[in-house]
Amino acid sequence: MAELLTKNDKRTHMCACLNAENVGEKVCVMGWVQKQRDLGSLIFIDLRDRTGIVQLAFDEKTDKEIFDKAFGIRAEFVLCAKGVVRRRGEGAVNKNLPTGEIEIAVDELRILSASETPPFEIVENSNVNAELRLRHRYLDLRRPDMQRNIIARSRISKIARDYYADNGFIDIETPNLCKPTPEGARDYLVPSRVHKGKFYALPQSPQLYKQLLMVSGFDRYFQIARCYRDEDLRADRQPEFTQIDTEMSFVTADDVMKMHEGFIKKVMKEFANVELSEDFIRMPYAEAMSRFGSDKPDIRFGYELTDLSECVRNCGFKVFAGAVEMGGSVRGINVKGGAKFSRKEIDSLVEFVKSYRAKGLAWLKWAENGDISSSYAKFLTNEENEAIKTTIKAEAGDLVLIVADKNKVVFDSLGALRCECAKRMNILDPFDFKFLWVTEFPLLEYSEEDGRFYAMHHPFTSPMDEDLEYLDADPGRVRAKAYDIVLNGTELGGGSIRIHDSAIQQKMFSVLGLSEEEAKEKFGYLLDAFRYGVPPHGGLAFGFDRLVTLLLGLEDIRDVIAFPKVQNASELMTKCPSEADPKALEELGLAIVSAEE
Ligand code: AMO
Ligand code: AMP
Repeated sequence: MAELLTKNDKRTHMCACLNAENVGEKVCVMGWVQKQRDLGSLIFIDLRDRTGIVQLAFDEKTDKEIFDKAFGIRAEFVLCAKGVVRRRGEGAVNKNLPTGEIEIAVDELRILSASETPPFEIVENSNVNAELRLRHRYLDLRRPDMQRNIIARSRISKIARDYYADNGFIDIETPNLCKPTPEGARDYLVPSRVHKGKFYALPQSPQLYKQLLMVSGFDRYFQIARCYRDEDLRADRQPEFTQIDTEMSFVTADDVMKMHEGFIKKVMKEFANVELSEDFIRMPYAEAMSRFGSDKPDIRFGYELTDLSECVRNCGFKVFAGAVEMGGSVRGINVKGGAKFSRKEIDSLVEFVKSYRAKGLAWLKWAENGDISSSYAKFLTNEENEAIKTTIKAEAGDLVLIVADKNKVVFDSLGALRCECAKRMNILDPFDFKFLWVTEFPLLEYSEEDGRFYAMHHPFTSPMDEDLEYLDADPGRVRAKAYDIVLNGTELGGGSIRIHDSAIQQKMFSVLGLSEEEAKEKFGYLLDAFRYGVPPHGGLAFGFDRLVTLLLGLEDIRDVIAFPKVQNASELMTKCPSEADPKALEELGLAIVSAEE
């Protein structure tokens, strides 16, 4: 029953672009039926496109044939409607709609497509279950909030392209079938048919290609690049995601940070209408950890970490004294106003820190009326208790939360706990944008489990000049010329100045446990390139999905990705991954040894 569009059916307006100024005009609109209301001899249809809704009016007395046609129309039918714009009757004006003063008296109607009843209603902020939404993503994307998200993403991408082009960056595509580019995650592998038994890797980032483009003399590179990482998914991670990826030659870390700060300021102004005039704070990693317990601190609120080790170093409570003795620490946060948390809520905070490997959480609740209850006070002397209260600046109304452990556990658990408490205190405004740079990251991270160092950023990041001398004897002490840009507790982007000296690059590989041979086999092309004149260079990549998510005040990056994957890395609509055709496997020289049930 679908009717065809004829050559005279030319859309004149998007639905929500009509208003009282168009009264008297003959118009043609096209879109989906939001709802049809049958009032006896009158029928009204709300017609929706991506701009919003306009009301179509059908009067039995004026045109019986069109009226009858409108009678059978249901939600999500696709229509082409022509007619004259007129003012609505007195009582029918809807001030909440841009088109609320007018309607179209339809005199020509085509049903371009019918629709079955959709599995959920196409409305804003619907609380339909996520799985159902994703299985019918094409319908989910019809919802006005999802449309706004996806359109916002496109606008932000345009701002990025303009900014970097205006600053002399050249947009260059790098391969998706490539040699592994290590960024710390597992690779997605693609089997080669021509070279049986051999594999391409999908890029975890364009890192090495962009460095090679600097060797080639392109000077400033830019790409909105797809990256693929086979890692555990979370609300801010997808197995394939998009970076705004850049690289610059002849620069220092300061130049790179300034350039990208300029982009953020431009986006904030053009997209969010927020003027950020001050330079972003630059905070060394060590300070971020000691004050916020995190290398991506949310600086919208306080609850900063306080070191209480000196207050309890010699106390009789083993949990505290023992942690200090073994080289760890005792630190706490003061949740201002947190005394209003019930015992049950405090117990759930104790459970919360356990997922960060803390063995427990000591607490002190100082009620507004002066009453104090505490899980640890009885184990300490009066002086020790007073010292803690003074050091952490506790007052009536506060909740003090303390973790004693190895420093890593203390930082991880308190860092997460302060954010959790802020959430529960309801003091976080997603539109209060607090950017900062975290700098001077450690170059390397030691894994107790594997008994070796890993690159904290990636193996191409340059050590800081003043720490170079420790690279052999005390690698854990070396800081990197690396910087992350952080927004409200999320790592929005990261980058570094790269090693451009092949001797240092070789040394870095050897610290990472790669023999000269292995390094040559894996990254020989980079080391070769460095033999022919390589400019000092550095860059940064933003997580584009994360940027859009945060700018829109959202939490889940799936809400800004048209076709995202779910927790187990599958896509519910197309149902990938799926089995391969046996013939295709044979051509690739592959056999399935073990498969999922
Ligand atoms: P890095 O690994 O820090 O650096 O990645 C840069 C930014 O990409 C985003 N990001 C992700 N977003 C969604 N899902 C994921 N799975 C995911 N993983 C990372 C983050 C992160 O800050 N080549 C370097 C950049 C450079 O040195 O220039 C790199 O990829 O927002
Ligand atoms: P316990 O003597 O084990 O019952 O502990 C007394 C209090 O100290 C309880 O409130 C525990 O939750 C807390 N606690 C135990 N281990 C730690 C730790 N590593 N850091 C902070 N508090 C702890």
